[in-house]
Amino acid sequence: MIHSPAPYPMRSSGATALKGDVSVPGDKSISHRALMLSSQVIGTTQINGLLEGEDVLNTAKALTALGVQLTRLSKQCWEVHGVGIGGLRESDHVLDLGNSGTSTRLLMGLVSPYPFTTFFTGDDSLRTRPMARVITPLTMMGARIVARGGNKLPLAVTGSADMLPIRYSLPVASAQVKSAVLLAALNTPATTTITEPQPTRDHTENMLRYFGFKLHSEKAEDGSVSVAIMGQQKIRPADHEIYVPGDPSSAAFLVVAALICRNSSIYIRNVCVNPLRAGLFKTLKEMGASIELRNERSIAGEDVADLVVSSSRLKAITVPAERAPSMIDEYPILAVAAAFAEGETVMHGLSELRVKESDRLSAIIESLEACGVTARAEGDTLYVTGCAEQPKGGVTIHTRYDHRIAMAFMVMGMATAQPVTVDDATAIQTSFPDFANLMNSIGADMVAVGATHVAATTHAPITIAIDGPAASGKGTLARRLAEYFDLEYLDTGSLYRAVGMKVVYAGKDPQDKSAALEAAKNIDAEDLANPRLRQERIGQAASVVSAFPEVREALLEFQRQFAASGKGAVLDGRDIGTVVCPDADFKFFVTATLYARAKRRHRELQGQGIEVVFESVLEDLRERDARDEKRSVAPLKPADDAIIIDSSAIDANNVFEKVSQIVLKKYPALAA
Ligand code: S3P
Repeated sequence: MIHSPAPYPMRSSGATALKGDVSVPGDKSISHRALMLSSQVIGTTQINGLLEGEDVLNTAKALTALGVQLTRLSKQCWEVHGVGIGGLRESDHVLDLGNSGTSTRLLMGLVSPYPFTTFFTGDDSLRTRPMARVITPLTMMGARIVARGGNKLPLAVTGSADMLPIRYSLPVASAQVKSAVLLAALNTPATTTITEPQPTRDHTENMLRYFGFKLHSEKAEDGSVSVAIMGQQKIRPADHEIYVPGDPSSAAFLVVAALICRNSSIYIRNVCVNPLRAGLFKTLKEMGASIELRNERSIAGEDVADLVVSSSRLKAITVPAERAPSMIDEYPILAVAAAFAEGETVMHGLSELRVKESDRLSAIIESLEACGVTARAEGDTLYVTGCAEQPKGGVTIHTRYDHRIAMAFMVMGMATAQPVTVDDATAIQTSFPDFANLMNSIGADMVAVGATHVAATTHAPITIAIDGPAASGKGTLARRLAEYFDLEYLDTGSLYRAVGMKVVYAGKDPQDKSAALEAAKNIDAEDLANPRLRQERIGQAASVVSAFPEVREALLEFQRQFAASGKGAVLDGRDIGTVVCPDADFKFFVTATLYARAKRRHRELQGQGIEVVFESVLEDLRERDARDEKRSVAPLKPADDAIIIDSSAIDANNVFEKVSQIVLKKYPALAA
């Protein structure tokens, strides 16, 4: 994604007494690896809890372009049909990885052993980031890489079918570079060995082992770690299931918020606490934080736990350089915590922060100073002096399109004397799309400011389910929402009409269950645009075929796929929130009194030049309601968590206004 030119400012105001029992989205690093590695085994892998942030969606898009079939089964649940080692094909377009360094560097490794060319580019931030660190080892192995000046994106990787194994010592501790070489080594004969100066996150190794690959890791006395992998291993075809734990780098924002806001106590479930990612929690505990790990367990090679965090008085400490790889993404939020600690916190070994999504070292210092906190860097060491008094805040932070700077300073605003505004919160979509919402659910006060016209970002597809009785206005509402939010629209009633149409036009009786079932299995998008669907006799046939549970079941998959694919969808019908999309982001049940609906339908018919007496319309609707409610399969009723919209006394415009405001409150970035 070339990031949106329309910035999206957000303000975070003071908060106390945060409370809640929450989960954070799936781990970003593990999500990328789950998609990439499951493409390299023969079999189907179901990934549960996948992070649906822009970065991971960009990896998914790139893999699709490389010939891998990915299906979104439901919210955060994806299926990957592995092509096996050597099974990728050349992409016929440039891979745009948006803001994601992990996608770019790992995929460069993945495509290196293929004798075709792959072009890579990214957004303004990614195009400034150094790629020499991956270009060097991949070139040693045999890939040819042509990059823009300074080894930046855009670049092209022409892979080789004759890759050579290497022994490579990483000049910087980088899990991305290690993983890029490991992915290239997967399809390279003989043994490739990578040595890292300090251990970095080992999710690639853990997941490779989980899929059945053999590799050998060894820690030397000087603290360095070597990983050796033999390429082109024969892995037995098999189906797998992966559970992605919550991202500790996202949990970090909730943890620090709970520590610095008075009288808070929160419970965060299912967080990855792999020791190579848990440096922040260790550091905060040394600073006096009350963070308790509960239900510690291991899932597919990853340590997972629930966290209980309560407000704490923090004191400054010195964080050693060796710890940096285990908390490399957490320094912005640690620096915020340090601003509330007693004394000067010293953080060593931060040179890598200069080449993240922004120059984070400068961004942290500039933003802390703006908030009234003393901070400075000397070489690669950061010093932050905790405020004896509450930091003043009352500023707008320049986020440099960096998600972690944006989130860290939104958290800062929760405990400063005056609110903190970030100039652009769109980057948060890359890793934690629901951030503001989740924070508000535990007691934060984060709102969009002055954003009257915001270009839509690549958000995870959202689903809006709309149910309701006949003539409630649900169809009109659904169409308007789809148009306004640029979502796909499915009138699920038309599916049953399409089944009825196929049966009738095949000369069969709609009561013929097997004919109806056959038709339901063969519905495609074109059927839904057929003008015959509006015929009265087709409407009657639809009401017959829709009573067959088998037909409803057969149409489920079509509806779910529709909801999950593409840019997001609005579906209306009778059982959308209850049966078809129980995980929908929004469920509305639009209703009105029988009298109001009959009036509406009567007016509608008159508008079409159809003369009917009001009483017969009323009677007709009364009968349909009774049928809908009593139906044994999927009877018409609101889902337990549906928002009921009573449209008896308001017109279609008011209904739309009301519902669209609810959607925008949760996803302000959707503003048209
Ligand atoms: C990541 C590794 C780290 C980290 C990044 C994700 C990964 O980068 O900063 O957010 O998933 O491998 P480096 O490898 O550049 O340290």
